[in-house]
Amino acid sequence: MKGNIALTFGILFCIFAYLYDPKTCRTYVRALLRFVNGGEEHSDDRLKLTVTVFSREELSKYKGMNGGDVYLALLGNVYDVTRGRKHYGPGGGYSFFSGIDGSAAFVTGEFNEKGLVDDISKLSNQDILGLEEWKSFYEKDYKFVGIVEGSFYDKEGNVRDMMRIYKKKLEDALLEKDLLDSDRQLFPSCNSEWAQNKGGRVWCSTKSGGISRDWVGVPRMYYATGSSKARCACVRTSGPPSYDPQSTSHKDRGDLDNPNLSLYPNCNADSISCPLPKK
Ligand code: HEM
Ligand SMILES: *[C@@H]1O[C@H](CO)[C@@H](O)[C@H](O)[C@H]1NC(C)=O
Repeated sequence: MKGNIALTFGILFCIFAYLYDPKTCRTYVRALLRFVNGGEEHSDDRLKLTVTVFSREELSKYKGMNGGDVYLALLGNVYDVTRGRKHYGPGGGYSFFSGIDGSAAFVTGEFNEKGLVDDISKLSNQDILGLEEWKSFYEKDYKFVGIVEGSFYDKEGNVRDMMRIYKKKLEDALLEKDLLDSDRQLFPSCNSEWAQNKGGRVWCSTKSGGISRDWVGVPRMYYATGSSKARCACVRTSGPPSYDPQSTSHKDRGDLDNPNLSLYPNCNADSISCPLPKK
């Protein structure tokens, strides 16, 4: 009984909320179902009831023809981009995105039939981070109106393999980014300059490579994991090595003994500035 009253109220609320923002409605229904189920977590099946699933054909009608609404899909999510008609509507510079899920092209820039697809399986992990940024952009600037049948969802709105592939790639991409970020902290890039007559020079300071720190370090050629080319890194010269920061038996040489480093020719081991070898 309690549930029925809540449900009736919920439906009324939703009719109004939907007009305002379908997402508010979804959040509300989620809370409501939890209440009706006595605090039990909702299942995805129930949540799905509240999301519009567009077929490809339905979505293709929203290209803004004759002043109509403009929708586009990204990662299976449909957004109302009518407000951005000048970009997405007929004659707009990005009208090829409207009425379809052209996810891949958001990072490949291939704005043709082959590129405007929702197959993201060939994209790099880096590309996936780009797609996440586009997703945040649409979530923030436009209204989510449903999902579309395609590689990410079937016509009932169940997730398909492409979604799992996406999630996995995203997870890997975030791990890679963490590694890269910590690499940038431990081995900050050097300052560098090059002059026609004097040749090149690399040197370290307390904020080279965009990393502010309380040590200067010395320039070394650094071969980062997964990279065949060396870059100039400023290497910490005291304290324990970064790969074993708790070490009590260290030689107080910082990261100097890391095997992935080599000295610049014509440069002293303790110099904070090194001339670059002539090409
Ligand atoms: C992968 C390549 C690219 C993609 C996927 C892309 C996508 C987009 C999208 C979706 C919009 C509309 C944003 C909105 O809803 O407000 C936009 C706007 C815009 N883009 Fe791009 N773009 C790309 C490359 C470029 C390049 C190379 C340039 C410049 C040479 C450029 C210049 C612009 C400009 C000037 C706007 C309009 C901003 C405004 O008026 O609000 N885009 N782009
Ligand atoms: C040196 O590089 C190799 C391969 O890139 C990596 O596996 C290893 O962890 C690095 N050594 C140190 C001490 O960072």
